[in-house]
Amino acid sequence: SINACEYMPGLEGIPAARSKISFVDGKQGILEYRGIPVEEIAKAPSTTFLETAYLLIWGKLPTRVELHEFESDIRYHRRVKYRIRDMMKCFPESGHPMDALQASAAALGLFYSRRALDDPQYIRQAVVRLLAKIPTMVAAFQLIREGNDPIQPNDDLDYSTNFLYMLTERIPDPLAARIFDICLTLHAEHTINASTFSAMVTASTLTDPYAVVASAVGTLAGPLHGGANEEVIAMLEDMGSPENIRPYIDRCLAEKKRIMGFGHRVYKVKDPRASILQGLAEQLFNKIGHDRLYDIAVEMEHVVEEKLGHKGIYANVDFYSGLVYRRLGIPTDLFTPIFAIARVAGWLAHWKEQLAVNRIFRPTQQYIGQHGLPYVPVTER
Ligand code: SDX
Repeated sequence: SINACEYMPGLEGIPAARSKISFVDGKQGILEYRGIPVEEIAKAPSTTFLETAYLLIWGKLPTRVELHEFESDIRYHRRVKYRIRDMMKCFPESGHPMDALQASAAALGLFYSRRALDDPQYIRQAVVRLLAKIPTMVAAFQLIREGNDPIQPNDDLDYSTNFLYMLTERIPDPLAARIFDICLTLHAEHTINASTFSAMVTASTLTDPYAVVASAVGTLAGPLHGGANEEVIAMLEDMGSPENIRPYIDRCLAEKKRIMGFGHRVYKVKDPRASILQGLAEQLFNKIGHDRLYDIAVEMEHVVEEKLGHKGIYANVDFYSGLVYRRLGIPTDLFTPIFAIARVAGWLAHWKEQLAVNRIFRPTQQYIGQHGLPYVPVTER
């Protein structure tokens, strides 16, 4: 076992929590949500993202009544606060939607100053408000930056259908909405990844859940984490055609540049979510038409496996997810906000679990600086 005093960059391999929420076996390529393999959940005809969120947060699949109440609570809270919509109208249209989302998530906290972390009703209220409002705030910023007024949620529509409706002002094709909902389920939770760890550290100071989600959104935005899905599409577009794949990869390797959508701290085989997302992409292309970037992606995956498979570097969740969203007509800079919409479930599950631990995160460091130096007044420097 790792000697507790040994410094590990990025805390690689260091257990920083004990959790029952999800499990990853990086060698076998296994991901389980509360003990259920993610493939079982994703392929179940009746499953929904909200049911998965309930499973992750409260640790069990909801009964029909529990699920109905949860869905109707969330349906009731989907409207975006008028003041937050007004705030978004002052945001620069050229800003990145992840920054708009982080600002809006933090702003939600301004409306709910009461903080009762030991009250299960407060916990449930915060879960409902964040799951309900994060997607509609993403959609609202999209319409506002296009110069339009955001539209109100349509109470007849389920969670994913309503999000796509508020984003595009059109009711989506049912298959598209279904596939989008499964994408949310696949992105909902993944043990103690960087943004979830960020959420846990923030939660451990007993601040409010809106600040917890705002911390996590900022962390997810980075290109090494959730931001990779947007970078993958830019990479495939730059490549333009399959014959440019090998030169591009050789250049990345020569420059020690990370290839977006590949590699993972834990998975040393293909990310099981990537396989499922690839299947969803093909389903979508069969129904509403092909995307030539997909052919480049499939060929690229083969070449990266040939060159880096020996190092345990394979496609991860971000490699195919963007191709699904792109085929749904979603702008690429909304791919990471969509990752955030899903991962709010995981962040809230770990927030709730972390509250029970009730111990502030405060690790130690190995000081490698100097000691006992004199203060030199500026006049003498
Ligand atoms: C997500 O943690 C999670 O669970 C995250 C996530 C989730 O659901 O929350 O799964 C979502 O963030 C998926 C990852 C998305 N990021 C990318 O696709 C960006 C590209 N990937 C790399 O940046 C990297 O693989 C990380 C950040 C994902 C993991 O980095 P590690 O574990 O710190 O690995 P490393 O950077 O130390 O690399 C180890 C070796 C190095 O080679 P050597 O210097 O030892 O010879 O592997 C190489 C790296 O050069 N390597 C890559 C590579 N990833 C690792 N080489 C080329 N391309 C890559 N993508």
